[in-house]
Amino acid sequence: MTDPLRRLRRRPEWQFFAVLPRADPVLATWWWALLLLRGALPAVFAIAMGLLVGAVQHRTDLTGALALVGVTFVLLQVLTPLHQAVSANLGSRVAAWLNDVLADSCVEPPGIGHLEDPDLIEDLTVAREFDRGQTGPPMYLNVDFIAGSMVELVGGIASAVVLFGYTWWAPLLLAGAWGATHWLLRESGVWRDRNTAEVRSAQRHADYAYRMAVEPAAAKELRLFGLAAWTVQRFTDRRRRLFDLQYHATRLRERPVAWSLLIVAVANGLVFWSLGAAAADGRLELDRLVVFAQVAVGVSMIAFGGLNWALDGAAAPVAAVLRLRPAMAPAGALSPGHLSAAGMPAAGIRVRNLQFRYPRTDRPVFDGLDLTVPAGSSLAIVGQNGAGKTTLAKLLCRLYDPDSGAIEVDVTDLRDLDVDDWRRRVTAVFQDFVRFERSLRDNVAPAGAPDADILGALADAGADQLADLDTPLAKGYEGGTDLSGGQWQRVALARALCAVRQGAGLVLLDEPTAQLDVRGEAAIFNRILTATRGATTILISHRFSTVRHADRICVLEHGRVVELGSHDELIALGGRYSTMFDLQAQRVAAETDEEGVTYDVL
Ligand SMILES: Nc1ncnc2c1ncn2[C@@H]1O[C@H](COP(=O)(O)OP(=O)(O)OP(=O)(O)O)[C@@H](O)[C@H]1O
Ligand SMILES: [Mg+2]
Repeated sequence: MTDPLRRLRRRPEWQFFAVLPRADPVLATWWWALLLLRGALPAVFAIAMGLLVGAVQHRTDLTGALALVGVTFVLLQVLTPLHQAVSANLGSRVAAWLNDVLADSCVEPPGIGHLEDPDLIEDLTVAREFDRGQTGPPMYLNVDFIAGSMVELVGGIASAVVLFGYTWWAPLLLAGAWGATHWLLRESGVWRDRNTAEVRSAQRHADYAYRMAVEPAAAKELRLFGLAAWTVQRFTDRRRRLFDLQYHATRLRERPVAWSLLIVAVANGLVFWSLGAAAADGRLELDRLVVFAQVAVGVSMIAFGGLNWALDGAAAPVAAVLRLRPAMAPAGALSPGHLSAAGMPAAGIRVRNLQFRYPRTDRPVFDGLDLTVPAGSSLAIVGQNGAGKTTLAKLLCRLYDPDSGAIEVDVTDLRDLDVDDWRRRVTAVFQDFVRFERSLRDNVAPAGAPDADILGALADAGADQLADLDTPLAKGYEGGTDLSGGQWQRVALARALCAVRQGAGLVLLDEPTAQLDVRGEAAIFNRILTATRGATTILISHRFSTVRHADRICVLEHGRVVELGSHDELIALGGRYSTMFDLQAQRVAAETDEEGVTYDVL
């Protein structure tokens, strides 16, 4: 492929037109056909008028000419709404197609690094514009604008073609002059600045401020901390910055507009002076004068219609979506493994000299971690905030790969296992578990499970009285309900326990009881241990009442294991664990609940 052709194909406008048939080939064909037909009609109308004038002039039969004028006129009227309907429909299809591509690009990579990359996240903001229409019309409107503008452009070109019948230089001069306005104004186009880092960042911040204002999640803090005015101000500031940038771009147009006017005025002056002189000399008959004067005016359509604006607004997000797809894949990639993970872990998990730092950070989370977890046993991990406990859980799920060292499952490097196969063996309650806006059933078994297992898991998690399995767990839905923090945690726990019933071999519990009441925690933990007995369980907790029940406990500090042993062994050791345990024991040796029942917490 030659270089200019390659450059053309990389242009956002080209990518936009290339997406139309991919979104809907039939509608796209209709869209183009109607566009060309509508574009040709003004020139046909001019010719028809010439024929009519000629027929009157020569006193011949008017029927043919009148019929042509009538049909052209009717088509001009009828095709417009038809084309608008096709455009709106095609625009919606394009938006749906882009949504699919965008969702796939985010979801498909097996890792999650691409969702934490600031550059990609900013591009994601531009990419969403086709749908949100914050800085331009949404796609279904834009495709119609583009259609209207393209019809004018084609109409102008068709008029220029007819004008060749007069003389060769007139259409070239007029088309050149009107065409030059595109070039002149495009260079200073309103949306030229659209894709700069500043615009994207302003858009993203404005978007965040908007979500803070309208979404229930932030509503409490917003009010309590008096952030309402701050949020509105933030939104206003960022939006104002966007408008300033647009205004600045518009101001850039002043000089090019003056140049455009001059060029266009001179070109039209020459052509119409020539037409007038030819008519006055008798070199141009009236019927031909009618046609050529009309098409000379018609060539101006090349410049009108706001094509630059509409096309930029539609093409920028399309290009962003298409750019994100190949960019996200490597950012979220993990080296592919092909070995089966069936039955794993059967012997155990071994973390060997693990080194890891998060992408784009300097500080290593792990700098030589060694740890072994025999299959079927339970290991509790304790350590200060930021010690790396959650990170280890994420590495075990293979959401990231180590920088060096390895995690081995039954002597096989985790990277050599098929990642989906391995993830089917793992289940987890994450510290920041997701509250799916779906039914209780789907929350417990997102991938599906027999009701008996779902109900059993809910009972194990002490959540059997919460709601009917079909109740949507979100207020915004018909019959929906919301749960308390602790109730949600029980649902998340049930999700993991249900997966164990479905055969998961490794259970990661990251602060699974942090939000449970004392009575609930005491009661539930034995049930969790029973329910996960066959599985290898890794429990992360700051609550020593929970931790002490694990077969072994490891104290993590600065990314290394500093103590490892059973509760009794570590107490006897008198080290970190023992100190932390004593500290908590002094605070809560026993707790009495609201009904006066006393629980041994430790
Ligand atoms: N996605 C991320 N990108 C960059 N750094 C991160 C990310 N997640 C965590 N970190 C950093 O990695 C370190 C370990 O974090 P991690 O979440 O594993 O701690 P933790 O032991 O689970 O702490 P806590 O007890 O508070 O849950 C911290 O310094 C944290 O700031
Ligand atoms: Mg954590």
